[in-house]
Amino acid sequence: QAKPLVDAFGRTVTYLRVSVTDRCDLRCVYCMAEHMTFLPKAEVLTLEELDRIASAFVALGVKKLRLSGGEPLVRKGFMTLVENLSRHLKSGALQELTLTTNGTRLTEFAADLARFGVKRINVSLDTLKPDLFRRLTRGGDVAKVLAGIDAAQAAGLAVKINAVALKDDNAAELPDLIAWAHGRGLDATLIETMPLGEIEADRTDQYLSLRDVRRELESFWTLEDIPLNTGGPARYVRIAETGGRLGFITPLSHNFCESCNRVRLTCTGTLHTCLGREDASDLRAVLRAGGSDADLIEAIRLAVDAKPKGHDFQIGRAAAPAVARHMSTTGG
Ligand code: GTP
Ligand code: 5AD
Ligand code: SF4
Repeated sequence: QAKPLVDAFGRTVTYLRVSVTDRCDLRCVYCMAEHMTFLPKAEVLTLEELDRIASAFVALGVKKLRLSGGEPLVRKGFMTLVENLSRHLKSGALQELTLTTNGTRLTEFAADLARFGVKRINVSLDTLKPDLFRRLTRGGDVAKVLAGIDAAQAAGLAVKINAVALKDDNAAELPDLIAWAHGRGLDATLIETMPLGEIEADRTDQYLSLRDVRRELESFWTLEDIPLNTGGPARYVRIAETGGRLGFITPLSHNFCESCNRVRLTCTGTLHTCLGREDASDLRAVLRAGGSDADLIEAIRLAVDAKPKGHDFQIGRAAAPAVARHMSTTGG
């Protein structure tokens, strides 16, 4: 059994997020710029390379693997990757294999995901209103996502709704969105918008503190803190009136870096040890130079040794994005 991945601050890395593509069939305004240049194919890891790096992490004690994007379900061969990675669930090395998706293609893929051992997925959905959805995603159709969620539930997958809280866009709708999710037996999580990459909108205008949202929800609902731990950054409450669970992801209003257990691999094989820092290690270079598994493991250990203490996200008119890359590259 390999030594676990422990960083210089004593945090153990047990959660790997893998962005399998920088592409997406939607273009959320807080995530991508209007005109994005997507990566040439040669830069992107092959399915075999993705599997090899993810499997090295599993050998190093990673228990939770989340596939993201861009939109993971637009990557060609994605289900083959999931099927192959599911061997780590069968061996017991991995506890959870999951994904974060925009939901548009779940009607096609939900049943196979369930078949390959995925139990629970997170679906990004900021609004139920067709017009607002179309504007926020620059052209998306919310009906497709709703059909996708139906398909996921029919396939037996647990679904959690992720909503980025945006002041002028969905703030007023958040209680309805939460009640809708809970009415269908879904968990929901609210997320503070983070400054990654240049976008057209002013993030100061979009930012909404979840401290304030929580206070507002408490004016008509009873929120009870619960000890649910999914391994992610959300802190959860149960809402007495809806009976459902609600998570808060508060990188800005309440920093959670002290308990971080995560690192991220981009689809080009760059390992980012913090979402909000530029620190990067090129694992693709190790593979494409013919490196052995031992070389790969050494590169991973070196990167984790240097994992930063935390992000430095700031929302302010004058503040430049904390990192140059967009969320669609890192996958959240
Ligand atoms: P669960 O397994 O359900 O807990 O999922 P998760 O919250 O780990 O993953 P998801 O992909 O649903 O991420 C939700 C949001 O949390 C995204 O906006 C991520 O960018 C954000 N997030 C996840 N991990 C971190 C982190 O370490 N730091 C910051 N600042 N944000 C994070
Ligand atoms: N800030 C916070 N969350 C974001 N997401 C995308 N961009 C941002 C941002 N700038 C969310 C997506 C998805 C998750 C992976 O990250 O909505 O739910
Ligand atoms: Fe696509 Fe997700 Fe980014 Fe929206 S947040 S553009 S769904 S990658």
